[in-house]
This record gives sequence, C-alpha cells and structure tokens, in this order.
Amino acid sequence: MEAGFVGIDLGTSSVKLILMDENGHIVRTVSKEYPISFPKPGWSEQNPEDWFAQSVAGLKELTAGNEDKVKGISFGGQMHGLVCLDAQDNVIRPAILWNDGRTMKECEYLNGTIGRDVLSAETGNIAFAGFTAPKVLWMKENEPENFAKIAKIMLPKDYLAYRLSGVHATDVSDASGMLLFDVQNRKWSEKMCEICSVKPEWLAKIFESYEVIGTLRADVASQLGLSTDVKVIAGAGDNAAAAIGTGTVGDGDCNISLGTSGTIFISSNKYSVDPQNALHSFAHANGRYHLMGCMLSAASCNQWWMGDIQRDKDFAAAQAEIKELGNNHVYFLPYLMGERSPHNDPQARGAFVGMSMDTSRADMLQAVYEGVAFGLRDSFEVAKASGIVIPRTKICGGGAKSPLWRKIMANVFNISVDSIESEEGPALGGAMLAAVGCGHFASVEDAAAKIVKVIGTVEPEKELAERYEERYQSFKKIYPALKPIYPQL
Ligand code: XUL
Repeated sequence: MEAGFVGIDLGTSSVKLILMDENGHIVRTVSKEYPISFPKPGWSEQNPEDWFAQSVAGLKELTAGNEDKVKGISFGGQMHGLVCLDAQDNVIRPAILWNDGRTMKECEYLNGTIGRDVLSAETGNIAFAGFTAPKVLWMKENEPENFAKIAKIMLPKDYLAYRLSGVHATDVSDASGMLLFDVQNRKWSEKMCEICSVKPEWLAKIFESYEVIGTLRADVASQLGLSTDVKVIAGAGDNAAAAIGTGTVGDGDCNISLGTSGTIFISSNKYSVDPQNALHSFAHANGRYHLMGCMLSAASCNQWWMGDIQRDKDFAAAQAEIKELGNNHVYFLPYLMGERSPHNDPQARGAFVGMSMDTSRADMLQAVYEGVAFGLRDSFEVAKASGIVIPRTKICGGGAKSPLWRKIMANVFNISVDSIESEEGPALGGAMLAAVGCGHFASVEDAAAKIVKVIGTVEPEKELAERYEERYQSFKKIYPALKPIYPQL
C-alpha cells in the first residue's frame, strides 16, 4: 500500500472504520460499539464523547503498522442528530438522534403554523420529528437553561470531525437534514434560522462532501501516531456516503439500505421536490442532489424480534425455517420508533396482524422482513408517482447480507436488486470521499467507476412478485386502520 484513506461510518449502534488503499482495496476494517439510550418511549440519545472515544480507539487499531501511509480521513455519519456545545466547547446534553420522536409539537407548529409551503420553499423539505431544527425548538421550550448555553450546534459526524481537526464544518448532504439548509442553493437559510431560533453563528461552515476541511490536530495526530498532514475531508450523511460506496451516483440510480434505518435513495442530477414532500429532497455527496425515503426501523426490527423477543442469536438457522415466500398470512408494521417516510407519524408503533393458531415462528420472522420491504415500498410508490422510473437498485447495510431478505426486496419491489462486492456502504463511501479530497481520483464518479463492483443480482420472479403485489395492497390498508388508535397508546 502506498497511500491509505480512512472511512469512518459513525452509525447508531457502532462506529465502523475501513482503511482503503490507493486502488480502492479494503486493507482492514474495525468496528467499535457504543450504547444508545431510550430515556422515554420514542426518545433516543447518545453520548458524543462515546463516538469520539470509540472512533479514536478504532483508528488506532485500523492504522496500526500503516500510520505513515494514511493521507486522508472522511466520514459517513448518522444524520439529523443534535449536538450542542457551549462557549467552552463542552457538550451541553446528550445528542438527540435521528430516530427520536419527541418533537411532535414542534413539527406541528412548523408544518402547521409556519406552513409546509414556507418550509418547502426555503429548504425543499417539511418538518419530520427526527430533523435537527425541531429539536432546537424543543430545547428552547423544555430545557431553557441548556438552550441558553448554546454556542454551536453540530451533526454527529461533524462533531467527530471537529474533535479530530478543530474545524467547525459540515457538508451539504448532512446539512440538508437539518431543516435550516436551502438545499437547492446549497447555503444556510436565514429565514429558517429565524423561525427555529437558531443564531447563524452557531452553524458550521459548509463544504461539498469531498472537500478538505483541515488537517489533524497536533494532539490527536500524536495520540494516533499519524502525521499532522493527514487531511480531514468533510464527508457525508450516512445515506449519501452509502450511495457513493455502492456507486449510486448517476441520474436515476437507486440504493436501498437495510441498516438500523431503512432508506431508499434516488440519485438525481437535478434538484426536485415531490409534491407531497413525503420524500426528503437533499444534496448528494457528488455535488448534485437526491430524493430519499427513510423508515426509522429496518434491520433493527430483525434485531428486536430475534434478539430482544426471541433471544435467539442464530439468525441464519431462524431464516432457514422460512420455507415458502409469498403466502404468509401474518403482516408486520415496522414502526417500532414511529414512522418517517411517507406517513410522517412519530406516534405510529409496530404491530403484528393476522396470526392464527397455526402461525409459526417462521411466519412471524418472515412477516418482519416483509413488513420492512412493504414499508420501503411505500416510499418507492411516491417516487414512481412523481414520474421517476427505477428499473433496478443496489442494496447495502446489515440486512442486505441475507439472501432471503434480498429476494423478498426484489419481489416486493418487482425490480432487479444488485449486490456490491463490499458491504461497507457508508464507510467505503467515506474512504472514497477522502481519496477524492486528497486528489487520488478526479471526481466522486471517477472513484465509483474504478472502485465499486456489482457481484450479483437477484431478479424478481413473475409469480412471486404478483403474490407480493396482492399482499402489499393489503399491507397498505393496515396503517390507516390503526392510525386513530396510536395517540391512545
Ligand atoms: C436518514 C436517517 C437515517 C440515519 C441513520 O434521513 O435519518 O437513515 O441517517 O443513521
């Protein structure tokens, strides 16, 4: 290896780091976990110090023996989280994460009193509970002493970049999810700052995802045994980074991520907004744009069902019990942390529907996989309705490792599903952005063309896709039927 580029995927359950060489080969991967707390139903928090400590520990392991080769570091980070620092750079309170649903009142105020049309004209988006700006309003109302101390607000990966480089920066893709950013023009919206009680000086300087924001701080470099010349590159929100890592960079290219969240990401050369604002309209990490639908629980539904409820660690054996797809009479609504796209309902909750005395464990597990696929199809339908044609998709994230889940996805969507050689979506995307920032590739597209390889495709099967079409039509009726009950739960 002549040159090494580090990608850090600052995820919700762990930080995943990869070291990539100048040819795009992955030399080493390291993963470190940290806790998440759910202080109240629907709330979700993490300690930013844990992100930094585990990333530094991971970086040490990752670069051991190759310290002198490392040229650049970049990121894919969990989006939307609110990190607040005081004037002395101390973290004021735990970070409020992307899947936290506490801001229902603030979202009602923003979407209702201020108006969806105003928000959409300013930012390309409406308010969703997990977005950053509603959380600032929540702090103002509920934690006035903390709110009064705010000197900077940051997104999770930008906090990590700040600790590594000392530079208060963000990138266009992640900034898009704050509801403070004019996505079309790639700049902060003064009007939204005013509406959301955000002082412009709290906000970071904006960069394109592949731009250099600075170099490693001397103390961090010496702690890691790395040079102070190592460049820190802005990076991207994890979905845009995953899109880079799966080569989803062309107009109309699609990537589905089955991680803690489930997302459908559609790369676009042009800025566009769907008429219902059901999909997010965000900047892409390649200098362009994307549309995205996000479900708050995807592979995490599998973790919950298998781990927390079944207390069974043998996921493969449990999947092997599933004998036949398409005939399941059980349905699962995957809204364990509420619902984002397209229903925008933080009060929605999970549900199993349709069990009978002959229902088996395998039927329930199958319903979990299918429920996530149906939930993502809801966003896919919104994209199709606005005239976007998506004949195939890439797939990544922990859930994409399961051949069974990939087959369910291909048939529920009735499109071809391509798997990529590297499963490290956001971390690989981060490393690729680092390499572009260091000048090793001419552009993000150039890096994607040289590095990303499709290694297999699942094609939909006519009969199975038809059966899933019928089942999807039934699935679509369950959420509206349960919706009136959710506020009482
Ligand atoms: C996207 C979103 C999630 C997180 C997961 O809008 O909220 O996909 O980025 O880390």
